[in-house]
Amino acid sequence: MRSITHMNVPIARTSLLECEIQSVMEPLRSGWLVQGPKVREFEDKWSAFTGAKHSIAVTSCTTGLHLSLAALGLQPDDEVIVPAFTWISTANVVEHLGAKVVFCDIDLDTFNLDVQQLASLVTSKTKAILPVHLFGMAADMEPINAFAKQHELWVVEDAACGFGSRYHEQHVGTLGNMGVFSFHPRKAITTGEGGMITTQDDELAARLRRLRDHGAAMSDLQRHLGAKPYLLADHPDAGYNQRMTDFQAALGSAQMDRASDIIQERQRLALRYDEAFFKLPWLRTPVHRAGYDHGYQSYPCLFLPENINLEAVPRINERRNAWMDKLQNAGISTRPATHAVHMLTFYRHKYKLNPRDFPSAYAANDCSISLPLFHGMTTEEQDYVIEQVLESAI
Ligand SMILES: Cc1ncc(COP(=O)(O)O)c(C=O)c1O
Repeated sequence: MRSITHMNVPIARTSLLECEIQSVMEPLRSGWLVQGPKVREFEDKWSAFTGAKHSIAVTSCTTGLHLSLAALGLQPDDEVIVPAFTWISTANVVEHLGAKVVFCDIDLDTFNLDVQQLASLVTSKTKAILPVHLFGMAADMEPINAFAKQHELWVVEDAACGFGSRYHEQHVGTLGNMGVFSFHPRKAITTGEGGMITTQDDELAARLRRLRDHGAAMSDLQRHLGAKPYLLADHPDAGYNQRMTDFQAALGSAQMDRASDIIQERQRLALRYDEAFFKLPWLRTPVHRAGYDHGYQSYPCLFLPENINLEAVPRINERRNAWMDKLQNAGISTRPATHAVHMLTFYRHKYKLNPRDFPSAYAANDCSISLPLFHGMTTEEQDYVIEQVLESAI
């Protein structure tokens, strides 16, 4: 590989085609700005792509997770099992409903919930499990669903990063009772802010549609396109306002026309990294497992200059940070893969937790590193990252 002069490579970059940008104009010109035909179109394309029976667009993944738990009738004092290594909102939505977060440690090989630990966490108050398909790697849903069935628990998949992730050929978000995706700009399909709930369950879908629209029993589309001008919707639930705008949906819908290309490009980029780094003993790249198609929302690695154990974590953390600084100085943006929620002040204080209570989440928090990966990344940009990583010579 030839040596490349200094470049700036961001951790992620939004890459929209001109036609996708233009698509936003249609609802702006038509005047139908919220929860209209473009939202319906986006939902239909999402269902077609993922195989979900129902797709319900909402304002973010976080609000979608909240709506999903509300639709299940989660009550204060109910308990929900949440992986300790995830974005904080997976846990926050449980708190918002007054219920109790029960953290589960992760499997450091996949960064996902460690199924072996579920049995020690379930109580008579447990109502749901919230597995996360972190960074585009599916959680091990077969044993999770079997466990949930055995203990009569709901399963709500946090599929924020799950676009393009499949588990035994089935798209994530269609494996539990509900799944929720994010369209934040660091995700493969973006609407700025936005989310999509998927479910195979007709009754849950109807409840979710009501709850996102102030609890209304009839949608705006039904009212405005119907023949009876005097119709007022009834409101059987005290719902929320989580309606997506039509210009956001237009942007999402336009990107769905190249959904497969986007995923394939991300998978191709990940494979180039895999091939470049497989010989480095100090960098563990994302695992490959039979039956799992990784969607590569990001490219999370573990920095392993020595064997990982609780005593080594602070030392590895110091060296990882120095390496991240070095890459930053070379113009390459990296990030810790995400955070361990039990180490964040709110949860640490409320539940009196110690980082070592969830050793793998603690290690992932302090020793992980995500390298730049985004569709639209040029070969030159990726070659530069590869060159700089290989030259780091840890
Ligand atoms: C695992 C996970 N859950 C939830 C969210 C929240 O998504 P949003 O920003 O759409 O609310 C994110 C966002 O990064 C995430 O990574």
